[in-house]
Amino acid sequence: MTPIDFRSDTVTQPTPAMREAMMAAPLGDDVLEGDPSVRSLEAKVAELLGKEAALFVPSGTMANLLAVRSQTQPGEEIICDENCHIYYYEAAGFAAVSGCSLRFTRGERGLFTGDDVERLVRHDDEHFPRTSLVCVENTHNRGGGAVWPIEQLADVYGRSTELGLRVHMDGARLWNACAASGLEPADFAEFTDTVSVCFSKGLGCPFGSVLIGDKAAIAKARRLRKVVGGAMRQAGLLAAAASHALDHNRQRIGDDHRRASALAEAIAEIPGLTVDASRIETNMVYFGVDPSLGTAAEFCAKLDDSVRMLDESPQGVRAVMHLHITDDDVARASDLIAQAAGATGSPA
Ligand SMILES: Cc1ncc(COP(=O)(O)O)c(C=O)c1O
Repeated sequence: MTPIDFRSDTVTQPTPAMREAMMAAPLGDDVLEGDPSVRSLEAKVAELLGKEAALFVPSGTMANLLAVRSQTQPGEEIICDENCHIYYYEAAGFAAVSGCSLRFTRGERGLFTGDDVERLVRHDDEHFPRTSLVCVENTHNRGGGAVWPIEQLADVYGRSTELGLRVHMDGARLWNACAASGLEPADFAEFTDTVSVCFSKGLGCPFGSVLIGDKAAIAKARRLRKVVGGAMRQAGLLAAAASHALDHNRQRIGDDHRRASALAEAIAEIPGLTVDASRIETNMVYFGVDPSLGTAAEFCAKLDDSVRMLDESPQGVRAVMHLHITDDDVARASDLIAQAAGATGSPA
């Protein structure tokens, strides 16, 4: 039987309808006269987020890289959470390409406050780097898929703006934040200067991100995209898939959240595994493994033929719901996880 793949919401395959949409896309040279499918996706996403302009890029990492590089100068500092994706998983692009340092907030589940920004911003002193940017992540991946409460985001944005700082949101999973909160993308984007969104997570597209912001920020990012080799030619093939994902796969994201809660509730009943199911907000389940069951890596390895998950820390495991996961998968995985932990699981 094919293993149930909970490693990430990035593991999905394009559906036949998405492949058809790609084949039907009108194309042009996006670096010369522009590609109509790319332009239409950029316009659609800019409107959805209520911002002036948008730029299509291959990945979330590139969108974040361009956001940071276009809103900072080498030697400046960025305020962000110590577990954010930009710091943890993007090969230190903030340092390698932007020449910036980071100053960390250490809030619960990756969230922080306007007070944190005020405490961490550097004062004008030649010893210090200048602070220029604040980065928030919504939903917060290593924060367990946490959603930013809108008042908290408004507070961070208000204080940052007063201090002359720009605010970038890594919104790789902004769609999940919207499904969980009932808010629209523009409601969150209002309290940011730039936002990156991904089509390759909960929306089930194989690639693609968009960086959204004001005209000046996006014009800068467009030049920088060329510098890092991210300007593509008949990229409408990709943009059409992203557009299809946006039109067809956004409405079902709530199902992923419901399934994540169901999995967490089952895991909470298994001796030796710990999770607070009431804290599951979106599509991610992080749970703890008691050392009597081995390390998280050993626990995952034991299940790898049937249920694939990632060890995220020595005793912590992550399971993520996505387009290909069904209610049956969740029920079956719950039993298999219980068996691997030495509990019996429910009768088949
Ligand atoms: C929160 C967050 N931001 C950015 C990214 C980067 O996206 P990509 O893999 O498309 O570079 C990811 C990838 O999983 C992510 O989880």
